[in-house]
Amino acid sequence: MCGIVGYVGKRTAQNVLVNGLKRLEYRGYDSAGIATLDDEDNPHVARSVGKIAELENVLLAKPHEGHLGIGHTRWATHGGVTVSNAHPHHVGNIYLVHNGIIENYKELKESLSGYKFNSDTDTEVLAALIDKNYTKGVSLKDAVAKAVKQVRGTYGIAVFSPNEPDTIVVARLGSPLIIGIGNDETIIASDASALLGYTREAIYLNDGEIAVCTGKGAEVFNLNLKHLNPNHETIEGDVEQIQKGGYDHFLLKEIMDQATTLHNTLSGRIDPANGTMHLGGPNLTAEEMRNINHVVIVGCGTAYYAGLLASYYMEQLVPDLTTEVVVASEYRYRSFHLPKNSVALIVSQSGETADTLACLREIKKRGVKTLGIVNVVGSTIAREVDGGTYVHAGPEISVASTKAFTAQVVAMVMFAGMLAGYHGGNVELVSKITNELAILPKEIEKVLRTHHDEIKALAKKYVKYNDALYLGRDTAYPIALEGALKLKEISYVHAEGYPSGELKHGPIALVDDTFFEIFDIIDNWLFDKSIGGLHEVRARGGKTIVFTNSKADIETDDIVRIKSKITILAPLLLNTLQQLFAYYVAVGRGNDVDQPRNLAKSVTVE
Ligand code: M6R
Repeated sequence: MCGIVGYVGKRTAQNVLVNGLKRLEYRGYDSAGIATLDDEDNPHVARSVGKIAELENVLLAKPHEGHLGIGHTRWATHGGVTVSNAHPHHVGNIYLVHNGIIENYKELKESLSGYKFNSDTDTEVLAALIDKNYTKGVSLKDAVAKAVKQVRGTYGIAVFSPNEPDTIVVARLGSPLIIGIGNDETIIASDASALLGYTREAIYLNDGEIAVCTGKGAEVFNLNLKHLNPNHETIEGDVEQIQKGGYDHFLLKEIMDQATTLHNTLSGRIDPANGTMHLGGPNLTAEEMRNINHVVIVGCGTAYYAGLLASYYMEQLVPDLTTEVVVASEYRYRSFHLPKNSVALIVSQSGETADTLACLREIKKRGVKTLGIVNVVGSTIAREVDGGTYVHAGPEISVASTKAFTAQVVAMVMFAGMLAGYHGGNVELVSKITNELAILPKEIEKVLRTHHDEIKALAKKYVKYNDALYLGRDTAYPIALEGALKLKEISYVHAEGYPSGELKHGPIALVDDTFFEIFDIIDNWLFDKSIGGLHEVRARGGKTIVFTNSKADIETDDIVRIKSKITILAPLLLNTLQQLFAYYVAVGRGNDVDQPRNLAKSVTVE
């Protein structure tokens, strides 16, 4: 969603801000802008609708000098996509960028008589509120603290005023802000990727904190203005990881990179010789591990589907356990009860998803231990959980989640394998899966290489269809859901995922020659039943594509048949090919695959 950057130091602020905004493009946005102070302390604002390239055109015509500024990419919530709604907003002596939502902005607006508003945004109201508090003798920091105390909602903000020309004040509640401490320069961003290449030293601001940033560093306070001593942490990753590396799109790079990223997910965590798995992060004692009797897995979108797939494995690996997989946006408002000795796995690539974070907090209130299955290091969820593990998939830039899905499933399977050790679970299965995990990166690489051209041709054949059904049973069911999500979000083809056993309960009515149906079929005890569903669809004129690891003859229009030593984890292999299929359909339809319409990478508002 929206992105924030800020800079104060010796470089030309405009360049750092635009560079930072480009790094945040992947989050999804519809307008962008910067505000800077020149060396005579005169403010300048440039805003535009559309891509950062539009903003660059504006700046090319009228470049900004000066060494302090703030920038923003906006994903519209209050008010349409217009230049006047784009950030930064300027009211009185205040220049402000804001991520989040001010829920009581209407009430606040009514109390701000005397201010004229030029936009439909909640942010402009906040700028006015800060300006109102920024009276003679009051510092910008104090004015910001007073104002945000009156706000209901979420915010990550960066503010400056020409009255204090060396200072940017930032504050956060529910929307991330990271302060990069450089050499005589300070860079602010809502996402660590914008800081890479400038500094590795960072302060991750916590909710309810405010910081005064200058070229010499940052001082952090709580909202009662008590001085705090924040941790200085190290930012991981490098600039290369957030570039396309020769691929046409980040999405393709992220799909093709999965062997490498998975290697990082697995590194040091499996022992094929002894057939065991071990994660270092759960922070649970042996007794706590033994006592776990229920696992609730929480996530949104792809993270939810990853949890669903992992739960199938978890139930087999630890038979004395019950599992429950929940969609965070629903669960957060349910009157849920969790049995004593439950554990919650909080699954999120970004670690910032608002609904998932809200669930984490609700679950913690009930005294249940929470473990993060998170990719972005230092993200809010990673910081608030009791323990957990990073999935180490590296930066995922494309809006559609691909490599994170694979890594999340694998991390949760390893958690289940470890739990099985404490529960006297299915030791033979633990060993088999450990051995499959050991070869999974190489097998993913092989499958993607072997089938690349075939998938490209298949996508070309089906590129004009506007409707698709994805069907699967057992462990192939979650990947049917995930396959359909991938196709719909980047190609805009209407796609639905269903358990194939449900066909006769409704979806089979859709089958005609305008649809195509993808069947994910695993060679296991449900094979014949899956084939039964396939025949039913074909008997009604459906066009079918089968993704399978079976050697059997299968009657279908098209088939993608993988050969691999991997059997139990085969859904992960089939899924990587579905990702590739969705990618090529989207490319064939001429879509912006990395930043699909209406979507944001990190959904930080409800
Ligand atoms: O960052 P998270 O994993 O918490 O994000 C959850 C979903 O928003 C995300 O998986 C979304 O569904 C993706 N667009 C899927 O490709």
